[in-house]
Amino acid sequence: MNSNNLKLKAEANNYPSLVLSNRNLCDLELIMNGGFNPLNGFMSKTDYTSVISNMRLNDGSLWPIPITLDVDEKSIFNISSSPKITLRDKEGFAIALLEIEDIWQPDLELEAESVFGTNDTKHPGVQYLLRKSKKNYIGGKIEKISAPHHYDNKDLRHTPDDLKSIFKNKKWDKIIAFQTRNPLHKAHFELTMRSMKELNANLLIHPVVGMTKPGDVNHFTRTRCYKHIMNEYSKNTAFLSLLPLAMRMGGPKETLLHAIIRKNYGCTHLIVGRDHAGPGLNSNNEPFYGAYEAQELLEKYQNELEIKMVPFKFMVFIPRTGKYKAIDDVAKDEEYKTLSGTELRQLLDEGKGIPEWFTFKSVAHELEASNPRLTKRGLTIFFTGLSGSGKSTLANGLLTRLLEEGSRPVTLLDGDIVRTHLSSELGFSKEHRSINIKRIGYVASEITKNGGIAICAPIAPYEDDRKYNRGLISNEGGYVEIFVNTPLEKCEERDSKGLYALAREGKIKEFTGISDPYEVPKDAEIVVNSSDENPEILVKKIYEQIVNMGFIEDNK
Ligand code: PPS
Repeated sequence: MNSNNLKLKAEANNYPSLVLSNRNLCDLELIMNGGFNPLNGFMSKTDYTSVISNMRLNDGSLWPIPITLDVDEKSIFNISSSPKITLRDKEGFAIALLEIEDIWQPDLELEAESVFGTNDTKHPGVQYLLRKSKKNYIGGKIEKISAPHHYDNKDLRHTPDDLKSIFKNKKWDKIIAFQTRNPLHKAHFELTMRSMKELNANLLIHPVVGMTKPGDVNHFTRTRCYKHIMNEYSKNTAFLSLLPLAMRMGGPKETLLHAIIRKNYGCTHLIVGRDHAGPGLNSNNEPFYGAYEAQELLEKYQNELEIKMVPFKFMVFIPRTGKYKAIDDVAKDEEYKTLSGTELRQLLDEGKGIPEWFTFKSVAHELEASNPRLTKRGLTIFFTGLSGSGKSTLANGLLTRLLEEGSRPVTLLDGDIVRTHLSSELGFSKEHRSINIKRIGYVASEITKNGGIAICAPIAPYEDDRKYNRGLISNEGGYVEIFVNTPLEKCEERDSKGLYALAREGKIKEFTGISDPYEVPKDAEIVVNSSDENPEILVKKIYEQIVNMGFIEDNK
């Protein structure tokens, strides 16, 4: 840390603090290291308004996507009277000072429409904006105290200045950037090789390791894959560096941002393929953007951005020649092969191995090791239903079956157990139930990540909390929700703990089903009703359904 940074660090203690989200921290790193040049802070209202209305900063520079600092009401109250705030990471390290220029409430729906062209929350960028982003923005200039701490792959992280001097030392003057959020396969290798050859240029493999699309392969696994691929390029022709960008999956507009960033990192060209930075399908199962819309937009602005696009069509494998070709160059009767992301996931789920025409063996081994077949992968089985619906009985029955089966360690997180050991201070308000369910989700996600089976059996009455857990856990392994749909009358008739009677008398407040809502699950994988069926038979049925879903070996 130089003397100015030390001075700022001391100054930081005079101001209120704001703990940054992962996205804020990624954005801040690129603001501070020059990756987001010409930005020198989080956008002011003037720049923000200008960007969402005409894709330009107030000074006229092209800028496609707002880079904003989102803050909740409570924090605004604490910081609004201070001239500066200290921006900290989650561990409390002071990363920067922000000189407050303005604070305002953005119209997030309008932002979604103008930046992403949609309000559909199936778009990850829109989902983040409308569901996760806080409702106020603070704009202002940044003074750097320290670069954010990274604990992994330090030797692969570079600032724009680092990369520019590396390129200079290597005497590279034509550098093609390859942006990616996925492991690299042979098709990608092929197109990077071709671009280098055609342009007589060098290559920067520049994968995003900040935030990518939920459900992507984690960046640790991907980085191991990239390192293997680097061995396939001839010596001193290609370079690997990790980029701490938080992607918005903004398709064409995000492509412009990728171009700006790569120009800042010293590259002269950017490879843009089919559906660059594409967010997947919308609620009508249609693509949000045209397959080559990103190429068209960058084509229009590449001169202004001073970086050239290297456009690529979709590459396919031709078994007859054993080579890859752009889809447009394949003759009508020529046989070709492709493998979609979904097909690849299916091969991994079933433990079938990834074909060699598709990827290098070293990459296949990494992917197979971090995505074992479903019968060996971690799993959460999440029971939800009213008190007295039979969740605990079924969960205990299933626990026994799974322990007998013995493929993975199993943990039961029953409602009562959790309330004794994890959530003893919580009551039954909506807020406390949410905290309780998210705690269960967190523990289950850790068990799942580490290859075990978590059986959870809380009431979990709210859809939003169940959805949150589903998202969190699905990133780590399997997730099966079981709705125990035993009618309220039956649960009340059983009243095994005598709580319904007390709830009817008003002696227990906020009792689910009586004086508090239970939101019926719409997307549970399994639905059972324990009213008239023997629990042992129900457990057998549930077990068989989990076998059929592929999570347990079928030993029949
Ligand atoms: S929640 O909503 O998921 O957090 O509830 P959960 O932690 O599963 O509840 C555990 C048990 O607490 C008893 N209990 C109540 N349930 C619902 N509403 C109120 N107000 C309440 N007060 C106590 C209830 O017996 C739950 O256990 P189960 O196993 O579901 O019967």
